[in-house]
This record gives sequence, structure tokens and C-alpha cells, in this order.
Amino acid sequence: MSQHHQHDVLIIGSGAAGLTLALTLPQHLRIAVLSKGELANGSTYWAQGGVAAVLDDTDTVESHVTDTLNAGGGLCREDAVRFTVEHSREAIQWLIAQGVPFTRGDEHEREDGGFEFHLTREGGHSHRRIIHAADATGAAIFNTLLQQARQRPNIELLEQRVAVDLITERKLGRPGQRCLGAYVLNRQSGEVDTCHARFVILATGGAAKVYLYTSNADGACGDGIAMAWRAGCRVGNLEFNQFHPTCLYHPQAKNFLITEALRGEGALLKLPNGERFMPRFDARAELAPRDIVARAIDHEMKRLGIDCVYLDISHKPAEFIKAHFPTVYERCLQFGIDITRQPIPVVPAAHYTCGGVLVDSSGRTDVPGLYAIGETSFTGLHGANRLASNSLLECFVYARSAAADIVAQLDSVNMPGELPTWDASQVTDSDEDVIIAHNWDELRRFMWDYVGIVRTNKRLQRAQHRVRLLLSEIDEFYSNYKVSRDLIELRNLALVAELMIRSAMLRHESRGLHYTLDYPEQLPQARDTILLPPTYGD
Ligand code: FAD
Ligand code: SIN
Repeated sequence: MSQHHQHDVLIIGSGAAGLTLALTLPQHLRIAVLSKGELANGSTYWAQGGVAAVLDDTDTVESHVTDTLNAGGGLCREDAVRFTVEHSREAIQWLIAQGVPFTRGDEHEREDGGFEFHLTREGGHSHRRIIHAADATGAAIFNTLLQQARQRPNIELLEQRVAVDLITERKLGRPGQRCLGAYVLNRQSGEVDTCHARFVILATGGAAKVYLYTSNADGACGDGIAMAWRAGCRVGNLEFNQFHPTCLYHPQAKNFLITEALRGEGALLKLPNGERFMPRFDARAELAPRDIVARAIDHEMKRLGIDCVYLDISHKPAEFIKAHFPTVYERCLQFGIDITRQPIPVVPAAHYTCGGVLVDSSGRTDVPGLYAIGETSFTGLHGANRLASNSLLECFVYARSAAADIVAQLDSVNMPGELPTWDASQVTDSDEDVIIAHNWDELRRFMWDYVGIVRTNKRLQRAQHRVRLLLSEIDEFYSNYKVSRDLIELRNLALVAELMIRSAMLRHESRGLHYTLDYPEQLPQARDTILLPPTYGD
């Protein structure tokens, strides 16, 4: 039987953004935090390098702001960058207060007046400012926040719940625009429940699964972006997909990232003959921003017809490598690669969705009562290319500002009244799931081939043609068959792919992560690509 649930705040997503918001809201509110799989399902758990923040007395807000603007290729919104960086220290202090076990600095560093925690360095940063827990920062943060959330009786943590769509006044044909809740597939009962909420938050992560090769776990399907679009929200800068330069290249290694902090601590990128190549592409060499490093690797792989390049840290003492990068060390060893003695085979892979749902500095979207935070949102912080380790920071800063905004509105927003139950009377069980699997594969393959690191008009047109065919096939399937997690994700992924392609076609220049052979130059003026849904402003 499908059920109705009521919460003051419905948070869709249990990553860094969702858990931070849940823990920051007052304890008298009834809060639900949903995850479509297990709670550790999202990218947060897998984050390695750390969180960028101005912590050391020798670092400055100005310097972090400048590095972010430089990496962003002229497209960052400076107010968003400043807002985020200015709140970085208090966000980290909050995490420390929650008990996150960040790696401590060496005694001599502390005696020299340095910060009490170890700060590492990553590409594009002119200062050591990445606080981390060895090379498993995401797991340390996630486990700590989850443990805290489990101690709060007002927070319900609900696994295996897949939000299908948002419920809004407009969709119900009622006066107003407000978001009233969401339809959620309970994978345990197989039913779609109706969730009523005073405030709904999309904290659903990114959409890197749209590509065949990605560093992301399986759930990164852009569900929040697709749901927001269907609810009438604008989306921005979806052509900027970040490819992480160094994912492990091994037939059995699925999605394993080799953290940028290795390069921060001196690892070098090499060709199969042992020659370094990054100095030929950028004066910052291995520590250039990611778009430059990924493009250089792609160029060398195509030029030489090689399957991968190599990342070499073996010149550093073995004890240093094992202490700083235990996760990478162990994982590579499982594949027969001893990183203290051998270079690591690496390739670029889709990593991060820089664009997303348009929000203000409180995470508010275009639909009243609906917020978007974390990777699913577009705050203006990342511009045309995200600076390393600014993503987790954005999750914490905007989750905290969204919480403050919700608190300010509590007295004026009531629980929505009656909402219609999900109608499954016209659909049957699918007997052709092979179509879903086939379409998944086709979509991710053509996105990789045609909408990847280097683009052209022709490739984008091909991709657009194919995605439109897929969308009509998926729509038909969706209208006739019962929803499943795979179908919901495919439907969202195809929609987000279409929005990405459309955004890429609108940008007649090369900037940051969007590089096209047809417009190799950068235009003098930087402009966001904002798409308006058909229902925008109705
Ligand atoms: P996520 O952590 O991705 O969580 C998304 C949540 O939404 C999940 O709980 C998922 O189940 C849920 N969800 C999604 N759709 C639905 C739905 N329809 N219904 C219900 N629930 C849903 N950034 C850094 O700043 N520093 C790093 O060191 C770093 N390292 C990284 C390493 C890896 C391997 C990867 C993949 C990313 C890394 N990033 C890093 C990026 C960063 O981890 C992510 O951008 C960030 O964790 C996103 O957090 P989030 O809370 O927005 O979403
Ligand atoms: C990494 O550790 O290289 C990932 C950092 C990030 O994505 O910001």
C-alpha cells in the first residue's frame, strides 16, 4: 500500500550537503533524509583529497578567491566565491566540532606557527589550504556526520527511497508556485509514497554518470537537476563537466580516483617512455587546474595512440607515501601496482557537474519552498572549471545558509494539506527491462564520444539527435510501466544529457572545461548559459 508521510523538512540526499543541513536545523523540526540506495551511496563517501579553506594565518581570503576565479575561466560569480571563501573557516570549525578526525600537522609545523591540522596542496591553489583525513576525507566526514544524525531523534534517515518527482502547486493546477513535497519510490515496499513537507531540499549530487567513464559511484544521475527542471526551475552552465585527470586505468578498477593531492605532494605525470609532458602545456605543470591537465593528457593519449599515461610518486620515501595516501596505496596494491616503486597508469574520467539548478546564496531555487544545495546546485562558485576541493566546501557553506533561511521562514509556512496519491492504475510491470539497460549504455557511450573533453559542432549535433530519440522512447516506457530505480535514473540522465548538449551548443567559444575545435578562442565577455524550462514563470 502506498503511504503518505509528513515532515517539516524533506531532504533528498544523504551526502555532505544533506547531512549538514539536517544537523544544522533546529532539533524541534521533523526532518527526513532520503537516500536512493544505502546512505553512503553518493560521492561524499568517496572524496579523497579534502576541503579547501582559509585556515593558516599565512593564507588569505583574497588568495583563495583569486585562485578560484582563475580556475573558473572568468565565469565565476565573484559574490558567490567571496561568500563561500569567507565562510570557509567557520564551516571547518563546525566539522571539527562534530568530531571529524582530520589529519594533524607535524609537530615542527605547529611550532613554526602553522595550523594545527595538516594542510595539503592541489592543482590551481597557490597555497597549502586543503584540510583532509589522509586520503579518505569523504569517508571521515560522512561517518562523523552520520553518527551525529543517528543521535538526533528528530532526524529520520531513510534508505532505498528514490524521489521520482516533486509535487508543486502548479503541477496540481492550484494557484501559486510552491513546492509541497515529493513522490518517492520505496524500494522496500515497491510503492510510490506521497511525502508532504513544508520545505523540500534537493541534495542529490551531480550527474557524472552521464559519461561512460567516471570517478563517481552509481547514483550520480542528475536526479535533482531533472526534478527541478520539471518543476519549473532554471538550470545553468551544464556544459561544464569536469574530467578528473587521474583515475586508475586497470580493467578491474571501477571508478577509482587517484587523488590530486598526490600531485600536490610532488607526483609527476609521465609518458610510457618516462618523459614528463605537463611543463610543455603550462608553467604550473602538474599543478595546473584540472581542465588544463585533463586536456593535456587527452592530447598526449591521442597523439601517441596510448591507452593511458602514468603518475609517478615513487621518488618520495615509501613511509611518506603510505602515511599520506594509505587508501590509494592499498587499492593500487590490490591490482599489483606498488606505488612506492612503480608509476600508476591513469586516464581522465568524468568527475564533477559544475552547473546545476540556479540558486541564491541561501540555496533557494526559482520554486518557493524548494532548495538545492551541494553538487546539484549552481551557485556561481565554480564558473567554467571547479577548483580542487571547493566542492565539499560549497556543500557545507550553502547547507548552513539554507538552514538559516528555512529557520527565518518557519513561522510563515504551514504543512501542505491534502495531496493526491501517486496514480499507478494505468501502468503494468515491465517485461522488457533490456531496453532500459541498452538505452543506459547507448547514452553514456555517445556522451563520452561526442560531448567529452574535446567537442565539435558535428559531434554535438549527433549527440542531440540521439538523445532526443532516446527521450521519446523513455517517455513512452515511463507512461506504460511501473517505475523502478533504473527507469527513474535513465529518464533523468537522458533529460540532463539533453540539457548539457543544448548548453554546449549555445556556447560559441572555448572556455574552461568546454573546449570545441569549432570555436577554439575565448570570447572577450564571459556569460553564463542559463536554460529556462517550458513552464518557467507560468
Ligand atoms: P552526494 O554526496 O553525491 O550525495 C547525493 C545523495 O543524494 C546520495 O545520498 C544519493 O543517494 C541521494 N540521491 C540522489 N538522487 C536521489 C533520488 N532521486 N532520491 C533519493 N535520493 C537521491 N570534492 C572535494 O571538495 N574534495 C575532494 O577531495 C573530493 N574528492 C572526490 C573524490 C571522488 C571519487 C568523487 C566522485 C568526488 C570528489 N569530490 C571532492 C566531489 C565531492 O565529493 C562531491 O561534489 C560532493 O561530495 C557532493 O556532495 P552532495 O552532498 O552534493 O552529494
Ligand atoms: C581529489 O582528491 O583529487 C579530488 C578533489 C576534488 O574533486 O576536489
